[in-house]
Amino acid sequence: MAVKKVIRMGDPRLLKVTEPVTEFNTVALSKLVNDLLDTVAKHDGAGLAAPQIGINKRVVVFGLEANPRYPEEESIPTTVLINPVIEALDEQMEAGWEGCLSVPGLRGLVPRYRHIRYSGFDQFGTKIEREVNDFHARVVQHECDHLDGILYPQRMSDMCQFGFEEELEKAAEAESER
Ligand code: NI
Repeated sequence: MAVKKVIRMGDPRLLKVTEPVTEFNTVALSKLVNDLLDTVAKHDGAGLAAPQIGINKRVVVFGLEANPRYPEEESIPTTVLINPVIEALDEQMEAGWEGCLSVPGLRGLVPRYRHIRYSGFDQFGTKIEREVNDFHARVVQHECDHLDGILYPQRMSDMCQFGFEEELEKAAEAESER
């Protein structure tokens, strides 16, 4: 178990399609899962994918309990999701602000499906299947995109809605004071 270095946008390892996990309940997989959990906790992130710590496997972790980076969002149970499959349950999409530990300091407005079903396995090979909405659905789509080499700026439709967190906050404050 260890906090790992999070690699940043520009590193070609973030652009790869990752390999499925073929063996569950192994020492190597449990080490990877623990490294991801330790690393995301250290950064108060909502989620982290294996390629972000340089591991080319289809493994993500996510979860949200009283997170200072996301003070207004409902909680998401801490989840280890391996070899995930996502299915949109309808065509509805919603734009929401996202950040990424591999794109530090920046935020962008990203359209995502509002209602999805996702499935996969935990590190012991136990099947997971859930239907979720809104922020939970957004976090899962963001993390699973990492497994296909996609970072959130690639999903944006309006690059004017992309900027440094500090500046966006200042702008929002100025707007609310008007
Ligand atoms: Ni990310």
